[in-house]
Amino acid sequence: MKTRITELFGIEHPIIQGGMHYVGYATLASAVSNAGGLGIITALTQRTPEALAAEIRRCRELTDKPFGVNLTFLPSVTPPDYPGYIKAIIEGGVKVVETAGNNPQKWLPALKEAGIKVIHKCTAVRHALKAETIGCDAVSVDGFECGGHPGEDDVPNFILLPRAAEELSIPFVASGGMADGRSLVAALALGAEGMNMGTRFIATKEAPVHDNVKQAIVAASELDTRLVMRPLRNTERVLGNAAVDRLLDKERQLGASLKFEDIAAEVAGVYPRIMQDGEMDAGAWSCGMVAGLIRDVPTARELIDRIMAEAEALIRQRLTGMLGT
Ligand SMILES: Cc1cc2nc3c(=O)[nH]c(=O)nc-3n(C[C@H](O)[C@H](O)[C@H](O)COP(=O)(O)O)c2cc1C
Repeated sequence: MKTRITELFGIEHPIIQGGMHYVGYATLASAVSNAGGLGIITALTQRTPEALAAEIRRCRELTDKPFGVNLTFLPSVTPPDYPGYIKAIIEGGVKVVETAGNNPQKWLPALKEAGIKVIHKCTAVRHALKAETIGCDAVSVDGFECGGHPGEDDVPNFILLPRAAEELSIPFVASGGMADGRSLVAALALGAEGMNMGTRFIATKEAPVHDNVKQAIVAASELDTRLVMRPLRNTERVLGNAAVDRLLDKERQLGASLKFEDIAAEVAGVYPRIMQDGEMDAGAWSCGMVAGLIRDVPTARELIDRIMAEAEALIRQRLTGMLGT
């Protein structure tokens, strides 16, 4: 399948693995890239720019296909060493960067000068248009369904994607709620040039996370995610668990006076305990509603091959068949 996204990134299939904290290591990124998609290493999971440089080297040893690095710009009192991470990306010869969070404008000149293609993740059409204006090469449009941070507008992909298609000139991928060949064909029909998946890729053999995490995704239905941190305007879609119940109780009790410190125990620094140690009630962790469509733990290649075969059959048989002769 050839789209503007496969052409832009030099990949075989229009499928991207979004950056994921404590999931997006070289093992998963290289497996996705080797299967013909675009795998992405998550920069901030690496404690230092030196550690990111080592992870990029490791990925290159595992694949000779293109892969990317996610750089998430978070509001923070003591920001990470972004210039250092960007230097590691450029010197590591990475050709694709997925930016997310705050406007990446400040960092674009350095990335562009190094010949790096930038795809910015957005949850609103106005942010996608801004990304286009400042020179991003593509955008990843994340609907309300998505695992992680869906923003505060709550527009699901059936509306958000065609709205993005109406406004954008640069290519975009659909993100949030994507799981299979049906998702890909629907995304293409709505105007996207491919799809980005997060939660689905956690439940793959190569995802370097504890098996409890994969099994929790397989066991979850589409009703099992919760939105947390809405009062802080930092909404995150997470899988429900005991810590999330506690957090939501505090949100209800404290109302508008809620501060980050009140819920720090449930959200700060919990990822290693969940992703590495498999302590499933240690805190809140991002998970999409798409968990309801995930029932197995295939390899990245099995997953991608299956998606492409299903998409092709849908287009050639189901859709074409509906047109008659
Ligand atoms: C466990 C987890 C961690 C994530 N961490 C990040 C992150 O650090 N930076 C980022 O830009 N997006 C992050 N995301 C969002 C994904 O890259 C992707 O946009 C999202 O999962 C798409 O929705 P889906 O889960 O329905 O496929 C994360 C998602 C999950 C599930």
